[in-house]
Amino acid sequence: MIANNVIKACIFDLDGVIVDTAHYHFLAWKRLANELGIDLTIEDNERLKGVSRLDSLEIILNLRGISLPTEEKERLANKKNSWFVDYVLRMSPDEIFPGVKQLIHELKKQNIKIGLASSSKNAKTVIHLLQIENEFDAIVDGTMIRYSKPDPEIFILAASKLGVEPQHCLVFEDAEAGVEAALAAGMKCVGIGSANQLGKADIVISKTGEFNIATLQQLSTV
Ligand code: BG6
Ligand code: MG
Repeated sequence: MIANNVIKACIFDLDGVIVDTAHYHFLAWKRLANELGIDLTIEDNERLKGVSRLDSLEIILNLRGISLPTEEKERLANKKNSWFVDYVLRMSPDEIFPGVKQLIHELKKQNIKIGLASSSKNAKTVIHLLQIENEFDAIVDGTMIRYSKPDPEIFILAASKLGVEPQHCLVFEDAEAGVEAALAAGMKCVGIGSANQLGKADIVISKTGEFNIATLQQLSTV
């Protein structure tokens, strides 16, 4: 019988976990916010991580209590996205964070399934540019979900595509909303970033490439 907590699948967020596209999102949102006369700080930006495009815009507008008609919000969100895509299209495969590809290969050697769960509608473009689309056994992106993180929908869907029960899944997340979503899905979670921000995760490390099989085994026994 397999113990309840053995990890059989690892599900990776993309932006900020596999590659520093989280920074490109920040630059594009900051540029849009500046056009609206809003100063978007790094602290404010933490709340945008993992959250859908339109929900992110809503958070920014709420900083100044601005309310706008739906069409205007869609126009602004599209504008931000075109700047983001400009950054992304200049990316090369060597922008993948150090050690991430090796980690995925190590996990596969342990018969761990590999999933991607990104709220981004650009996720497939990004993994194609990084030349890693064939590394995943299942991919869920922002076009396939109804509710954005912190809702657990994206991780539940990824687990079901992988054919692994949530309790046997380990999520890698850099966003507070993403950690909450993973825990709400009944999964374990590795926070990538600062313990202040991601303290609810089972463990927090500063970079994805620092994770190793020994840590995986520890998480499988707690
Ligand atoms: C998430 C990012 O991965 O995707 C968020 O952390 C972003 O910052 C969200 O808003 C949606 O991305 P996109 O590319 O569809 O605008
Ligand atoms: Mg992220």
